[in-house]
Amino acid sequence: MLSDKKILVGITGSIAAYKSILLIRLLVKAGAEVKVVMTPSAKSFVSPLVLSTLCKNSVFSELVESDQWANHVELGRWADLFIIAPLSCNTLAKMANGLCDNILQAVYLSATCAVVVAPAMDEDMWHHLSTKKNLSTLLSYGNTIIPVGKGELASGLFGEGRMAEPEEILQFCTEAFFRGISLSGKKVLVTAGPTYESIDPVRFIGNYSSGKMGFAIAESLYMAGAEVLLITGPSQEQLLYKGIKILRVISADEMYESAAPLMGQVDIAVYCAAVADFTPSIKHTEKIKKHSDHLLLELQPTIDILAMAGAQKKTNQYILGFALETENEKENALAKLKRKNIDAIVLNSLRTVGAGFGVDTNDVTILSANGVEKNIALQSKKSVAAAIVSFIIDELYA
Ligand code: CTP
Repeated sequence: MLSDKKILVGITGSIAAYKSILLIRLLVKAGAEVKVVMTPSAKSFVSPLVLSTLCKNSVFSELVESDQWANHVELGRWADLFIIAPLSCNTLAKMANGLCDNILQAVYLSATCAVVVAPAMDEDMWHHLSTKKNLSTLLSYGNTIIPVGKGELASGLFGEGRMAEPEEILQFCTEAFFRGISLSGKKVLVTAGPTYESIDPVRFIGNYSSGKMGFAIAESLYMAGAEVLLITGPSQEQLLYKGIKILRVISADEMYESAAPLMGQVDIAVYCAAVADFTPSIKHTEKIKKHSDHLLLELQPTIDILAMAGAQKKTNQYILGFALETENEKENALAKLKRKNIDAIVLNSLRTVGAGFGVDTNDVTILSANGVEKNIALQSKKSVAAAIVSFIIDELYA
């Protein structure tokens, strides 16, 4: 997660500038505060209005805007990271030689934060000796270069020089600059989403879980340095970071089969999935026809994945489960924690407006086997996930 991180995106005159729109969206979605500085020629490729709307901040493209001088020193000091994407051949040459004829150059020369560049140019320009020399000069200044990709170029030719994709840039920057170490070396399993229990080839029993909470927890654990495997039921959610392994399953049975071999191997497990408690006893292979005026479905219990994990819990393993309660909430959650032999349980209440299934916010209470109780007031699921992960870290290292 990039919450509390300040990122300055620099855009130069290259057709790849259209990708910077997506990059800004991803950075904002990951929680970063984003400001944009662009060269005057970049404005021919992407409109400042689009960029300012996406990052909800002013966009700087001139050293002097009407009669106001833009404070480039302040911008360079404000940022935790300066990402120049795309970096054109022209701006690369200017950076290597210390030129200062536009605001992007002025910010670059006065920036006190780390600088990452994602070059974009045609293959022949990319292979030119002067480009190589300029890139190695940037490396000698301590800047980081994100490798270019191979593919179709603006000239219509096929080769090296394509700017890295926005997802790769996000991944590269979060890992290199912001991924923590509190959980490094820890193997983690997270379950998320609903499960669908098949009735016949066209119908199933499911629930309203979106997977948002589990995905956010997987991302927070990853950003704390852990090696994460996410097993999710059907969900529309996408992970921000490619470094997280993901296994998509459908039913409770499939989720159990995927999680079972890992139960004894992981250091931390977070069972967040809204697993169906019952599944049809018979899964019809043909569509059930409307032969009579009623239909009885016989259901049988699914395997309780969390209870299975708790039953074989190892001494140094930390297991956290969720409890969705509608009455005697705390009492029921604590009973569940004991019964399933786990370390902590996150109590979800359906009473709070804006919390629970489908929405982007949540309000939970974490109860631990050590008697610790922590309420996390209504906030985004990403912030709730970060608070749950910091609770786990506190418990592990208490
Ligand atoms: N869980 C699971 N496998 C199941 C059912 C639940 O792993 N077959 C896990 C959930 O991921 C969650 C916890 O058990 O972490 C509690 O789920 P919840 O639905 O609140 O409780 P149940 O154990 O199903 O009990 P009840 O429905 O009676 O409250």
